[in-house]
Amino acid sequence: MDRRIATVFGASGFLGRHVVRRLAAAGYGVRAAGRDPESALFLKPMGDVGQVVPWPADVTHADSVAAAVRGADVVINLVGILYESGRATFQKIHVDGAANVAQAAAAAGVQRLVHVSALGADASSPAKYARSKAAGEAAVTAAFPKATILRPSVVFGPEDDFFNRFASMARLSPVLPVIGAASPKDGGPKFQPVYVADVADAIMAALTDAKAKGQLFELGGPTVYSFRELMQLVMAQTGRKRCLLPLPYWVADIQAAFLGLLPRPPLTLDQVQLLRRDNVVGDKAKTLKNLGITPTAAEAILPTYLMRFRNNAWQGVQNA
Ligand SMILES: NC(=O)c1ccc[n+]([C@@H]2O[C@H](COP(=O)([O-])OP(=O)(O)OC[C@H]3O[C@@H](n4cnc5c(N)ncnc54)[C@H](OP(=O)(O)O)[C@@H]3O)[C@@H](O)[C@H]2O)c1
Repeated sequence: MDRRIATVFGASGFLGRHVVRRLAAAGYGVRAAGRDPESALFLKPMGDVGQVVPWPADVTHADSVAAAVRGADVVINLVGILYESGRATFQKIHVDGAANVAQAAAAAGVQRLVHVSALGADASSPAKYARSKAAGEAAVTAAFPKATILRPSVVFGPEDDFFNRFASMARLSPVLPVIGAASPKDGGPKFQPVYVADVADAIMAALTDAKAKGQLFELGGPTVYSFRELMQLVMAQTGRKRCLLPLPYWVADIQAAFLGLLPRPPLTLDQVQLLRRDNVVGDKAKTLKNLGITPTAAEAILPTYLMRFRNNAWQGVQNA
């Protein structure tokens, strides 16, 4: 029997690997599309021989996108960037790239398209990132009205960029920043971190649930935390007590102006703009629950991968 084909753009990324594993387990033939097929080779063992195929495609090149979706039954777009670099601008990746994928999927007669955007996507946001995510959503819906759009909050999981980064900072530095806090009592902006496995499950549900067609879902975890509470969580999980330093937006702006010059900037001016708004699921939004998923608590998962940042992490194991 012929397999159903799924094309995943951004397959080699943090979220992509969790999605590819699920698609392979569900019996799909998977085209793991990205700019560098070599970086997707590690995905091949997730399926049977020949089931997961690294596929060269750049979302900014419409021809390569069209070739990647030809004959596909479902398409998932996970391509996104956190900062602009050279030709990889927000407009090119989040707007033009998203439009290329949606137009090619429509032209190829693809049955389902799932587009992953971001919580906070808003045409009127002060952050270029969030404006470009909103424009990308609009371009996707215009080309493929039945696409499902998912907006995750900060995603956590073993390969995440957020908790691993601050846990690593807690190992090296006596202080942790509370970006956006004006004083020691101010918690700063709010977040609703969501587990990567729940986001991947949401994508799988969106591929099959008829009610998800043409709908937008906001994906958050079970708990809303302030930036300060997230740093306290990092300290608890890594067993490291650190001084929490309020970093008002104007100070963060100055830091970001310098850090933004680095080749892989840990903080940019645009990200500080993004942090000026809470990143939580809206009251009226459709959520993970509407896709049949119960969100997983960060406290249940963080110990499984932040343990390596603890002092003497393996001592108990050796002595056991
Ligand atoms: N992680 C989070 O906390 C979070 C939160 C909210 C929203 N999101 C959104 O969720 C999606 C997935 O995020 P993620 O964390 O998995 O991102 P990621 O780890 O950075 O992965 C991005 C993927 O996109 C690929 N890519 C980059 N430029 C490309 C291009 N021009 N053409 C084709 N592929 C390209 C990358 O592979 P190559 O470089 O090899 O091409 C990589 O596989 C993104 O849209 C992101 O904005 C993520």
